Amino acid sequence: MSNLIELRDVGKQYGEEVILAKVSFALARGTAAAITGHSGGGKTTLLSIMGLLQRATSGTVLVDGQDIGNLAASRLAKLRGEYVGFVFQRARLIHSLTALENVIAPAWFIRKGVKVEQEAKVLLENFGLSHRLHHKPQELSLGQLRRIALARALLLKPPVLLADEPTNDLDPSLAAEVTECLLAARTGGTGVVIVTHDAGLAARADQTFQLAEKTLRPA
Ligand SMILES: Nc1ncnc2c1ncn2[C@@H]1O[C@H](COP(=O)(O)OP(=O)(O)OP(=O)(O)O)[C@@H](O)[C@H]1O
Ligand SMILES: [Mg+2]
Repeated sequence: MSNLIELRDVGKQYGEEVILAKVSFALARGTAAAITGHSGGGKTTLLSIMGLLQRATSGTVLVDGQDIGNLAASRLAKLRGEYVGFVFQRARLIHSLTALENVIAPAWFIRKGVKVEQEAKVLLENFGLSHRLHHKPQELSLGQLRRIALARALLLKPPVLLADEPTNDLDPSLAAEVTECLLAARTGGTGVVIVTHDAGLAARADQTFQLAEKTLRPA
């Protein structure tokens, strides 16, 4: 069976500046990978390439065995919507919507007609947010925003789930809970990639990598 995502000798430059060079990586179904590395090293850039938000400037990116290098932007966007869930480093919630509406909104578009509200409520309740369902982002703490972003990603049950420092801003017990939820997504076959500075979280993944000197190495 093909890997969910595979990178072969991927490079990324912004203008003349090389951010990533010769990065190779494969994510199998139902597994989790953790990536650590110093600030500014290119971790978020790497996730954005894995998540089809940006194109690599060299090398090959395969999705379920298919080289996506020549896919038109519209096809790539459609694939991204169906295939990838993100928990961004900055939560990126919609400010005019409540917590519950933020969780449901993408699922409305992608799983048209499917009843998602009850599932969304259960996710938010499991994250200790049952008393905040109808609050807007500006009324919520950073840790709460992060849990909403995670619920939004989990609700879609994507084949690939990418989380950028998902336990930042969380106290240890919530961090543990969020970690469990991320890793539990594996049981449905989802492949999970977690960028983290938390050594404890990284150790729970099936494979761990370090991003240093612009490339990825097993940690
Ligand atoms: N659109 C862009 N144009 C030019 N340079 C960029 C762009 N996006 C990121 N960079 C640069 O690329 C480098 C890597 O950034 P990136 O956000 O991937 O690092 P990171 O490892 O995620 O850091 P952190 O741990 O602080 O989140 C940084 O030097 C950043 O300034
Ligand atoms: Mg980052």
